[in-house]
Amino acid sequence: MMRTALVVGALLLSAGAVIAQQDLVKQNQDTMKANAKNLGAMIAMVKGEKPYDQAAVTAGLAQLEETAKKLPTMFPDSIKGMNPDGGKYEVSPKIWEDKADFKAKIEEFAKVVTEAKPKITDLDTLKVSAPAIGKACGNCHETFRIKKS
Ligand code: HEC
Repeated sequence: MMRTALVVGALLLSAGAVIAQQDLVKQNQDTMKANAKNLGAMIAMVKGEKPYDQAAVTAGLAQLEETAKKLPTMFPDSIKGMNPDGGKYEVSPKIWEDKADFKAKIEEFAKVVTEAKPKITDLDTLKVSAPAIGKACGNCHETFRIKKS
């Protein structure tokens, strides 16, 4: 009886771990989608497709800064090889193979966002900083994100 309870308990624990991992993969995808939404809104302002909106820019930058803080713990070894559902992209295994480079890309992104934050006060300054942020996103994606074929 005791033994069965232990076995069942262990099974439940490992099932729980798998669910937690899938949640993390989903959360990561949601974080990336939020990044795209916020940076996308800034780029639309740069292109004149939307009026300049300081409140939206400030909120967007706060979310990007949040992402920069989360990135170092977003891809633990426990989700190695797991990919988000339904998206067009996969995680490159290089994230776990070249941790130093991944860390460098995160730091670069964090630096660009932190530096841009106090500088963006109007459309002209947004025009300078938004593309620089986009470049830092692309820099990481180039090596660590794979487009599904
Ligand atoms: C340090 C690395 C890194 C940085 C910086 C980064 N990303 Fe990503 N991004 C990834 C990885 C890895 C994936 C694939 C896994 C995933 O979607 O969780 C991804 C996926 C995405 C996706 C696809 C999500 C989907 O629908 O499946 C979008 C969109 C995206 N990123 C936008 C951005 C934007 C915009 C920025 C910058 C503001 C950014 N990312 C910064 C690593 C990064």
